[in-house]
Amino acid sequence: MITGKYPSLRLRRSRKYNWTRRLIRENDLSASDLILPIFLTEGKNKKLKIKSMPGVFKYSINLLPKIIDEALSNKIPMIAFFPSTPDHKKNNDGTEALNENNLVCKALKATKKKYKNEIGLMTDVALDPYTSHGHDGLLKKNIILNDETLNVLIKQSLLQAEMGSDILAPSDMMDGRIGKIRKALDKKNFYDTQLLSYAVKYASNFYGPFRDAVGSRSALKGDKKTYQMDFSNSDEALREVALDIKEGADLVMVKPGMPYLDIIRIIKNKFKIPVFAYQVSGEYSLIKHGINKNIINQNAIIESLISFKRSGASAIVTYFANDIAKKLD
Ligand code: PBG
Repeated sequence: MITGKYPSLRLRRSRKYNWTRRLIRENDLSASDLILPIFLTEGKNKKLKIKSMPGVFKYSINLLPKIIDEALSNKIPMIAFFPSTPDHKKNNDGTEALNENNLVCKALKATKKKYKNEIGLMTDVALDPYTSHGHDGLLKKNIILNDETLNVLIKQSLLQAEMGSDILAPSDMMDGRIGKIRKALDKKNFYDTQLLSYAVKYASNFYGPFRDAVGSRSALKGDKKTYQMDFSNSDEALREVALDIKEGADLVMVKPGMPYLDIIRIIKNKFKIPVFAYQVSGEYSLIKHGINKNIINQNAIIESLISFKRSGASAIVTYFANDIAKKLD
């Protein structure tokens, strides 16, 4: 590795000017790396603030073209929909997830119709935006039921695929769901619908602002530790990914992002599969707060996103997507 020594060897030599730094740069960030999450709300002409996520809004379906046009002109390849379901439509079993006129379905239909395949559409498969208890699965006697939940997730997946979702992203962390969903999709001839498994999703403290946005934070009973992963573990992440690949995942996600760059790297090294990273709401809000208070500057966003590329991520889900894509070539 070392080909000389000081003083004849000086690594600063190749950092001296911008042009030489550009020549030796190992990783780059482009708009093609970014996925923009969009929160949905009911009503008309609504663009609602989210208190814990300054700069992020919930949009009613009729205003979606505003933000999607912006994403397209910024060359962002994909958007992801997340619904803020009104409380009166939530119940114990999250049945609104299977309503073909729910927010996500309406957004998928309208967007597919208008934009065809100009931009990718990704949707979350999980019940938490629809359950009154805020959990991702069916809850009975304080237990999240695995196999019973799978039956609902399969139906939710088929519905979203039918409505035009290009990439289904199961984020529920139930065992066995990737295989079951893939099988059900294939049986109904949705063989081109991709599966992006949130293979490695930690029971994290960084999801708070998102739960505010979809209204599952105050609702949430207990925690998600019996299904989301313990953040002390990394070998377990490799087992999760190995299983999901075997079951038919096209892509895998690691979530949250920045505290888990080590996990992205070990998955990339071992499996050579596209790994996506999710820079989650808590990460967004912390960085945004720092910028708003002049504690750090705007470039911290790019630095945070490049760290994902360096760790081996192919793409990053980030609430900064539109802001940053504008500034990139
Ligand atoms: C749940 C889901 C969560 C996020 C995306 N999908 C939250 C959770 O597991 O409680 C969090 C995203 C973020 O914090 O930005 N299916």
